[in-house]
Amino acid sequence: MIQRPRGTRDFTPQEMEKRRCLEETFRHVAALQGFREISTPIFEHTELFTIKSGPNVVEEMYAFEDKGGRSISLRPELTAPAMRFFVTDLTNYPRPLKLFYFGQCFRYERPQSGRYREFYQFGAELIGAPNPESDAEVIGLAASMLKRSGLQNYLIRVGHIGVLRSKLQAAGVVQEKAPAILQKLDKKIYDEARPMMEAAGMSPGVIEEIVRITQTTGAIAVLDDFPGPASDYLREVFNVLQAYGFTNVQVDLGVVRGLDYYSGIVFEVDAPVLGAEKQICGGGSYTLTELFGGERVFSTGFAIGFDRILLALEREGFKAPESPISVYVIPVSDALRPLAFELTAALRAEDISTDVDLMRRSMGKNLKYADAVRAQLVVIVGEKEASQGAVTLRDLSTGEQVLVKKEELVGTIKRRIDIGVRGRCGGKN
Ligand code: HAM
Repeated sequence: MIQRPRGTRDFTPQEMEKRRCLEETFRHVAALQGFREISTPIFEHTELFTIKSGPNVVEEMYAFEDKGGRSISLRPELTAPAMRFFVTDLTNYPRPLKLFYFGQCFRYERPQSGRYREFYQFGAELIGAPNPESDAEVIGLAASMLKRSGLQNYLIRVGHIGVLRSKLQAAGVVQEKAPAILQKLDKKIYDEARPMMEAAGMSPGVIEEIVRITQTTGAIAVLDDFPGPASDYLREVFNVLQAYGFTNVQVDLGVVRGLDYYSGIVFEVDAPVLGAEKQICGGGSYTLTELFGGERVFSTGFAIGFDRILLALEREGFKAPESPISVYVIPVSDALRPLAFELTAALRAEDISTDVDLMRRSMGKNLKYADAVRAQLVVIVGEKEASQGAVTLRDLSTGEQVLVKKEELVGTIKRRIDIGVRGRCGGKN
């Protein structure tokens, strides 16, 4: 038997219904804030990701040489592709340009619960507006998406990478050495970060100051201890978030992010119910465009770990309503099959989800099947009724049966079924 590759998943129809539902919820929220969808290739030139994404991403990349000898990589994320697309084709769009995307990403990581080699990101990038309100707009979008997803417990932590970067710079750390140190600080591996900072020539006092910064969390007032332009900017972002009504956001100067390209605001969202892989969203502001041959444009964005949100929802006991079929049509004899198909087509044409017997089963087995697929109503096409231009309509939940004229079937069914159940994933908020 051929197994699927490690770190990949198949999705059952029930799982796909849940996934599509969350995806639609996210699309809807993004559209409400004026973001528009883009799509980019699943693979790109490796260089796109090696330029600025940082050592973690490069180590984990699915890179290979294609038949033309080019180095190609499956995308590990979508920010660099979105910026490449912007530089090559979208610079003439009015700004700010508000984009969102949904798609697979690939990282050669050690698979575990919530960490896959193929996973999905739902993300957004706001391009061209270098103001705190732009950052607040994307943080607000992430917050609204999470709220609408139905997730109950999560924490949005926002920092500014400038606080740490400027400290490292002032301590004389050369630019090439900063990413490796920041990676260790991101994971709070201080016993490895400290010797690296010592080797970079930092004094013990400054090293401890850096450690203290990465442990600073809380309300906006914690910024008073770290005066400077980065703190001022962060304060303004929080003011806008407050005006929008987002209060479940806290300052965390220890947010460093695993990717190297951030230069301003950085933020992460954790869902504690997920344990080790609890980060469900990450983002921040950056300028990547000039690296891809364009002018320097300020951008800010985030990506939600789509699979992790679903996992967190499941762990919180969230039950998405299933999508039952509305009607199941059963012809009682071969001669009545054409009529059954005709009625099926008429119902489907009216947007009523309808299934029909394709297995030539007996009535008993057909009713069992209708129950198994959770049909709400069954249309029984029988000889006697057909001769009177009618069919039998049976409600599977009550067992009640009525005779309905063929031409009244669509109207009668529409009155009985809850069409609204289909396609709704039932976020609690
Ligand atoms: P990231 O933090 O590397 O950021 O990924 C975003 C989210 O993707 C993570 O918070 C996590 O939920 C999810 N994720 C990452 N790796 C895996 C995995 N192996 N399995 C399942 N989920 C995973 C970015 O990718 C940036 N491009 C975000 C961004 C957009 N920044 C600015 N704009």
